[in-house]
Amino acid sequence: MKALTRFIISALPVIGVAVFAGGRDLPQVRHSDYAELTKVPEKAKAKKNPFANDPDAVAAGGKLYEEHCAQCHGEKGGGTRHGASLLRDEVQQATPGTLFWVITNGVVRKGMPVWSKLPEPERWQLVTFLQSLKLRSANHPDSKINKEAKSKTIP
Ligand code: HEC
Repeated sequence: MKALTRFIISALPVIGVAVFAGGRDLPQVRHSDYAELTKVPEKAKAKKNPFANDPDAVAAGGKLYEEHCAQCHGEKGGGTRHGASLLRDEVQQATPGTLFWVITNGVVRKGMPVWSKLPEPERWQLVTFLQSLKLRSANHPDSKINKEAKSKTIP
């Protein structure tokens, strides 16, 4: 019984944070989120990103992202209630070809638009940008380091 009480007490802050986060405009991860990533045809998955690790493409992709994607997926890719977080492992561990395919085809019935009207190089720049987020995840907006940095901002 003691162990149970201890468990409940230690779980309280977690529940508190979850309730608090739910009240804000944070993404809700649904069971079906990211399902589309598993449906990408093998051939499309294996496509190579012509701009892999190209810093210019990261910059160009970042601009495109701000313009077209941030309103749903969040300025830093952390998601909003309109679009899932792109920082999660499901996305960050996907192959470049997988992301390219999802961007190209969208998930229209769930609210992810089709981006086939963007020229192919721009779609690859977006992929390059998304994959660069993984390297910065230590600077994830919710991470401790980042919060500390923010609290030190001089007013
Ligand atoms: C109108 C809102 C909206 C916009 C704008 C938008 N998306 Fe999405 N996106 C979504 C939603 C909703 C999903 C989740 C689909 C699902 O449940 O699988 C999604 C899914 C994704 C996924 C797959 C991961 C996942 O959650 O399944 C990627 C990658 C993605 N979007 C990238 C982008 C990029 C890059 C852009 C800009 C070119 C963009 N999105 C613009 C709403 C949006």
